[in-house]
Amino acid sequence: MSAKFYITTPIYYVNAAPHIGHSYTTIAADVLSRGKRKTLGKENVRFLTGTDEHGQKIQKAADAAGISAQEFVDKTSGQFKSLWQSLNVSYDDFIRTTEPRHIKVVQKVLEILHKRGDIYEGKYEGLYCTPDETFWLESQVVDGLCPDCKRPVERIVETNYFFKLTKYQDWLLAFLKGHPGFIRPHSRYEETLRFLELNKLNDLCISRPKERLSWGIPLPFAPEHVTYVWFDALVNYISAVGEFDSQDNYRSDWWPAQLHLMAKDILRQHTVYWPIMLHALNIPLPEGVFAHGWWMFNEDKMSKSRGNVVNPLEMVKKYGLDAYRYFLLRDVPFGLDGNFSEEGIIKRYNSDLANDLGNLVYRTLTMVEKYFDGQIPDVALGANLKSVTDILAKIKHLPIRVNLALDETNFSQALEAIWELIGMANKHVEETKPWNLAKENKQQELKEFIRLLVEVIRAAAGQLEIFLPQTAASIQEQFAGERVKKGSPLFPRIETKSS
Ligand code: ME8
Ligand code: MG
Repeated sequence: MSAKFYITTPIYYVNAAPHIGHSYTTIAADVLSRGKRKTLGKENVRFLTGTDEHGQKIQKAADAAGISAQEFVDKTSGQFKSLWQSLNVSYDDFIRTTEPRHIKVVQKVLEILHKRGDIYEGKYEGLYCTPDETFWLESQVVDGLCPDCKRPVERIVETNYFFKLTKYQDWLLAFLKGHPGFIRPHSRYEETLRFLELNKLNDLCISRPKERLSWGIPLPFAPEHVTYVWFDALVNYISAVGEFDSQDNYRSDWWPAQLHLMAKDILRQHTVYWPIMLHALNIPLPEGVFAHGWWMFNEDKMSKSRGNVVNPLEMVKKYGLDAYRYFLLRDVPFGLDGNFSEEGIIKRYNSDLANDLGNLVYRTLTMVEKYFDGQIPDVALGANLKSVTDILAKIKHLPIRVNLALDETNFSQALEAIWELIGMANKHVEETKPWNLAKENKQQELKEFIRLLVEVIRAAAGQLEIFLPQTAASIQEQFAGERVKKGSPLFPRIETKSS
């Protein structure tokens, strides 16, 4: 494993406000970054997110808003930044594709590939989905509709510039066959292999004539054309962390990325176009790509173009930030689709957060106050009882289990490991019946019993820092010194009509 961790989210289109889907990928990247900062050190982790600001979709949205494209993207990219702040997202860098540092690298990439003959001029004729800014193969389009968003595709004919994807198809296939871990989950790896085996790639049209679209990065060798938004966007992963030298070699302290995170809608761009672009530029490939599933709403993908989006801030206002983060990461195995519902959040909230975690913390605080006047008992933990030995072993292994699960990008498993410990501690309370220990005046046993609970809570909070930073900080504050500082309950139960 490498000693640094560079992770990226997609750079999101700024044509509309962010929704739950965007927050999902970004929170997942936040959690992986927080986990790695603990094991590798803060200075060895780089978490990049940002916004994709060129292209026809953005131009159309700006036109509709009656302002210039630049004004429009300044405003909407700010909405993403402020959302990440509200969701406690600890990104290290936020790249915007309208920034000079990005434009410079994109133009250099174009120049190098043109010089090497991998970009050439030609006639383009193809099926194009304007809202998605994506070309589709004849074989992918059914009934004239975009296979992703199901809106009509257009047939386009014009002079353009092309990137020689075809030249590298065999190389890519061989590379993927030799690196089965490059694309995860494995089903997506197989999907990509099948796609490459069954379809002959077309060269990628990477320009748009300025008269059709002017909002983009001009091609340095043909300024009457701007760069196709996907060709521009993918480069953000390298433009954010490095530059080309005078010999056309790319230099960076961070590249290659350890992980590109995204949902399955943009798998092909990241597993076909991007590896080929990098290979053609003589730049190493990222270590891996993970494409998670979609949040659905009433059986349909949640998306701004379908108008069925839920605003993350509304959920946070209703249920709290950490309940929201917890639900997203715990409820659906990372990689699969999930149906979004508020009932789902409430269920998780009441059972896992209020009953399990909240209850353990609150009852422990209460007992420390009641039996020891707020003083945390200072005793060594003798492992004489089997249940105690089991809990101590669980505490010891918790960070390892969490890290292993995170290395597999398995958030629900990581959280399960924490909740297993919480569950054991709650069971231990019910079995030990501390009130009897108190009645029988078994001081030593009572001290050890409570101390064990405090250790469980501290260990759990230490790992919760990665997932629920606010909650972890609040628990740590309540158990910081020798005396507890009892606050209000972390997760007061939500009463529903049926409960
Ligand atoms: O594709 N469920 O931007 P985009 C889960 N600019 N995740 C979802 C989701 C859903 N329903 N909807 C969106 C673009 N996402 C390009 C990316 S990268 C070089 C350029 C998340 O605004 C998920 O991460 O359409 C998905 O891949 C991404 O938002 C697409 O965001
Ligand atoms: Mg999209």
